[in-house]
Amino acid sequence: MSKLKIAVIGGGSVYTPELIEGFLVRREELPLDEICLMDIDQERLKIVGGLVERMVQAAKAPIHIKLTTALEQALTEAAFVITQIRVGGVAARILDEKIPLQFGVVGQETTGPGGFAKALRTIPVMLDLARKIEKICPNAILINFTNPSGIVTEAILRYTRVRAIGLCNVPLGMKHMIAGWLRADPETVELDYFGLNHLSWVRGVKISGEDVFSKVFAAALEQARLGVFPFSPDLLEALRLIPSYYLRYYYHHDEVVEEQKKALKTRAEEVQEIDRELFRLYADPALSKKPALLEKRGGAHYSTAAVSLISAVYNDKGEIQIVNLQNRAAIPDLSHEAVVEVPARIDRNGAHPIPTSPLPKQVRGLVQAVKAYEELTLEAAITGDEHLALQALLAHPLVPSFSVAHNLWRAIKAAHRPYLPQFH
Ligand code: G6P
Repeated sequence: MSKLKIAVIGGGSVYTPELIEGFLVRREELPLDEICLMDIDQERLKIVGGLVERMVQAAKAPIHIKLTTALEQALTEAAFVITQIRVGGVAARILDEKIPLQFGVVGQETTGPGGFAKALRTIPVMLDLARKIEKICPNAILINFTNPSGIVTEAILRYTRVRAIGLCNVPLGMKHMIAGWLRADPETVELDYFGLNHLSWVRGVKISGEDVFSKVFAAALEQARLGVFPFSPDLLEALRLIPSYYLRYYYHHDEVVEEQKKALKTRAEEVQEIDRELFRLYADPALSKKPALLEKRGGAHYSTAAVSLISAVYNDKGEIQIVNLQNRAAIPDLSHEAVVEVPARIDRNGAHPIPTSPLPKQVRGLVQAVKAYEELTLEAAITGDEHLALQALLAHPLVPSFSVAHNLWRAIKAAHRPYLPQFH
C-alpha cells in the first residue's frame, strides 16, 4: 500500500499543534506515514514545526514531519490536503472587523462585510492552490478550514475538479453543547442540522434514536434565560429552532454593534495578543504538548472534526458527519451547486449529502439571501467586477442601503489594495 501523507497548507498556524494532537490520539485508526507542514512564513513554520516534532517524538509515533515553504513539495503524493490559510494575516482581519463598524454594520471576520472582504482576498489564492492540487495530487481530498469556509469551498467545487469538503467546528460545537445540556454522551446525539456555514440551525435532536427535541428546546430556553446561550428567550420561543452562535450577528445585530463599539479591542486584536504568547510558548524546547492557552482561540473541536472526517474516508466508514458540500438536492430550496452545511454520509469516495426537509419558512428567505450574497461575492472575487462586488454587498441582509454598500466597498477596496489585485 502507498504511504499515507497529509499536507497542511498554512502549517505555521497556531492551531497546528491541536491538529497534530488529534492525529496522535487517533493514530491506531489513521496510520499516518507523513505530515508535511507548508507555510509561506519560514519563521512561524520553524517554531510550530519544532513543537510538532517534539510532540510526535514524545508520543513515540512513527510519523515523519516535514516542513517546507514549497507548495509543490507539500502536495506531492498527499492523500489529504488540509488548508488553514489567512490571506493578509491578522492585520487584515483587524480591518475586516473595524471597517464595517464605521458604517454601523457588525464587524466580524466571516459574517457581513468583513467576511466579504476576506472572501475577495482568499478565493483567488485558494483557486490557485486548488489548480496545483489538480495537477500534482488530483486524487487527494481537500479539507478546507480556510474562512469563509462555505464560500471558499463553493469556489473550489464550482471552478476546479478538486474533491473538496469544507469543515467547521460549529456543528461539533453544537453537538457537544446540546449533549452537555442533557448530560448525554455526544457520540449518541444525532442532529437534524441545516443551513450554510456560519448560518445554521438545529430543528431536531435524537439520542440513541429517541426524539428529544422538546427537552433540548426547553434546555436552550433555560440557558438563554441564564444568559449562557447568547440569544433572547423571546426570540427562541418565536423561532422554535436552535440557532448556531453566528446567528447572533443577525438576530441581535444592533446589540452586537453596540457591544463592539464599546469594546476596547476587536477580537482580532485579542487574537494577536494570544498568538504572540502562544508563539513564545511554542518556541520553548522543553514544551512537547499543546499548551492550554490555545483553548482561548475559537477553534475548539477543530482537530476532532478534521481527524474524524479523514478517518471516515480512509476507513470507508459510511458514517454521518456534518460538513460543507455541494447541495445536490439535500435542501430542496437551494440550487444543486450551492454549498450547504448539512449531515452527509462519509465514505472512501468522499461526502454525500443526506436529503433534508425544505427550509422552515421563518429562515428560508435569510438562507436564500445569504446564498445569493455568497454567489455574487464568489463571482466578484473571480472576475474583479466592481458591479458584482456592489451587488454582493447590496444582497447581504446586514447591509441596509445603497449608500452604506457604496461606502463599504470604497473603504474595503482601498484598505485591502495589496490583496485585491483583481480590482486594481
Ligand atoms: C469558530 C469558527 C471559526 C473561526 C473561529 C474564530 O471556531 O467556527 O470559523 O475561525 O471561531 O476564533 P478566533 O479565536 O480566531 O476568534
